Amino acid sequence: MAKDTLSVTDNRTGKSYEIPIEEGNVIRATALREIKTGPEDFGMMSYDPALVNTATCKSRVTFIDGDKGILRYRGYPIEELAEKSNFLEVAYLIVKGELPDKKHFATWESNIKIHTMVHENIKRFMEGFRHDAHPMGMLLGTVGAMSTFYPEAKEIFDLETRRLQTRRLIGKIPTLAAWAFRHTRGLPYVYPDNELSYTGNFLSMLFKMTELQYKPNPVLEKALDVIFILHADHEQNCSTNAVRAVGSSDPDPYACLAAGIAALYGPLHGGANEAAIRMLVEIGSKEKIPGMIKSVKAGDTLLQGFGHRVYKNYDPRAKILKKLAYDVFEVTGRNPLIDVAIELERIALEDDYFIKRKLYPNVDFYSGIIYQAMGFPMTMFPVLFAIARTAGWLAQWAEMVRDPEQKITRPRQIFLGEGTRHWMPIDRRPAPSMREDAVSEAI
Ligand code: CMC
Repeated sequence: MAKDTLSVTDNRTGKSYEIPIEEGNVIRATALREIKTGPEDFGMMSYDPALVNTATCKSRVTFIDGDKGILRYRGYPIEELAEKSNFLEVAYLIVKGELPDKKHFATWESNIKIHTMVHENIKRFMEGFRHDAHPMGMLLGTVGAMSTFYPEAKEIFDLETRRLQTRRLIGKIPTLAAWAFRHTRGLPYVYPDNELSYTGNFLSMLFKMTELQYKPNPVLEKALDVIFILHADHEQNCSTNAVRAVGSSDPDPYACLAAGIAALYGPLHGGANEAAIRMLVEIGSKEKIPGMIKSVKAGDTLLQGFGHRVYKNYDPRAKILKKLAYDVFEVTGRNPLIDVAIELERIALEDDYFIKRKLYPNVDFYSGIIYQAMGFPMTMFPVLFAIARTAGWLAQWAEMVRDPEQKITRPRQIFLGEGTRHWMPIDRRPAPSMREDAVSEAI
């Protein structure tokens, strides 16, 4: 008879243990602690740097099958949502778990839109950044600063408070993002126009000049909306894990989202499309692609926008973006980097190095090309990502707050440092022989 348990024999002691298997393939890491050589033994642990094979939560938001290239929000395939939905509706789905009907969507839209304005002191706070401040740094600092404007947000176990902060953050994040952009251009900040759609208003706050009302190009408005849908959530990625880890000590959601934005800032996460554009510019023409592939295979560099921790098949978001690029080019004119990208993808996908390692284009391979065609500077790329991911971060944060199994995140370590040493007066100490980096090299 098959049993949902795992039998483990500790060859140090000869003892056998039966560990329950949950959800088909999960054992609780704490079950390993029973495996001991004696009463003094701490017990067995698992070692998993970067959490590559450790589930840290149970979630109902996003499903990914990386081998099959499947991504679903709350059960809905990303392809259907990108084609038929709009970002605000998808944000509702992610946050609340169901698609809204007409009445609920209208209420949600108006509840989000009444929060697009920000306190004038937040505006003054943003004006204090240096003229050339990175807009992602501005967003990070300002979202953190918003914590001080909404002290009631600390009541995180109160459902209505959580809902209010969720609407507030989804409403205000495009305003902060657009103002960060205007700041770097030395342009006056544009106030929200709630007559426009969520994405149309964002474009207005970015690009409005002297006209009375900005009229977003419908193709670009739709394209950006689709890009927001594609980035709205992605289960336990680096920034979502940061939101959950910080959130586990119960601060308000502004502090949690600032942590998420900080994680997203890095070139291996939200900054990867910038790296992809820089790489495509450096390659410059199709003739130089084989040389580039050669240096990737020699381990000198990475193929930016390729590879993914979870997808070992084509990233479904990249497929949608590749198609979307051509709609955008109809309006903006063709970004010549697309030809280099498509040829690079073709050559890489025929090459054994990439086939063997299951390296396919990820979402960042094509998104930068579209952003660039739409007139966004590279520094804005992660900011655009953050606007969309706010919905996912908030859904995952609320899920964590409600989860009775969660507590403060506190991993273990394998200690490899010195044993006990005794303090000596400064004039009797030998000269230190190691610098900090030398110590870490020793590890
Ligand atoms: N180009 C060349 N080789 C690669 C690449 C790449 N982009 N990515 C992975 N590899 C190789 C890697 O060198 C390793 O080879 P070997 O087995 O010979 O040592 C093998 O593939 C496995 O890679 P890994 O580093 O164990 O994979 P990972 O899951 O730790 O890393 C990744 C995932 C996304 C950080 C990595 O693929 C990468 O750095 N890609 C480029 C940056 C990028 O596009 N990031 C965006 C990720 S998607 C957006 C997001 O989630 O934010």
